[in-house]
Amino acid sequence: MNAVAETLYDRLGRREGITRITRELMKNHLANPLVKTRYENSPDLDRVETRVIEFFCAGAGGPESYSGKDMLTTHKGMNVSEQEFITVIDDAMDALEKCGVEPATRNEVLAILWSLKGEVIRV
Ligand code: HEM
Repeated sequence: MNAVAETLYDRLGRREGITRITRELMKNHLANPLVKTRYENSPDLDRVETRVIEFFCAGAGGPESYSGKDMLTTHKGMNVSEQEFITVIDDAMDALEKCGVEPATRNEVLAILWSLKGEVIRV
């Protein structure tokens, strides 16, 4: 057995893997009628994508630092619904699957995303 446990960051494929996953995620959002207008209305989707990559990397234990706003400040005033929150998480699970991430690791990401609901929904 491997004596050193692989971090979540490693299992997501480090920065390269997380960049791929995030691109799939944004593609899913822009194709999803339940949330697409939210992202289409962003003034700078490239910046959002870069921040989401950093957020994922830092949250998974990577060396990157997150340069964006905290989750509460980011989503404050957007009036995000429960349905939109579930949809965004579903898009993330689909992106992980498309990128070949194992079910156990997908569930770990699911738990992390779910734990943020109080900072995103109707804040
Ligand atoms: C756990 C779930 C979520 C996480 C981890 C998350 C994460 C993030 C991050 C890291 C950013 C970039 C912040 C920055 O630029 O400083 C962002 C922006 C954004 N999020 Fe979320 N988000 C989540 C859920 C949602 C939901 C459910 C919606 C609504 C459908 C949403 C809509 C947006 C929009 C529209 C932006 C872009 C704001 C802008 O243009 O500045 N997010 N999110």
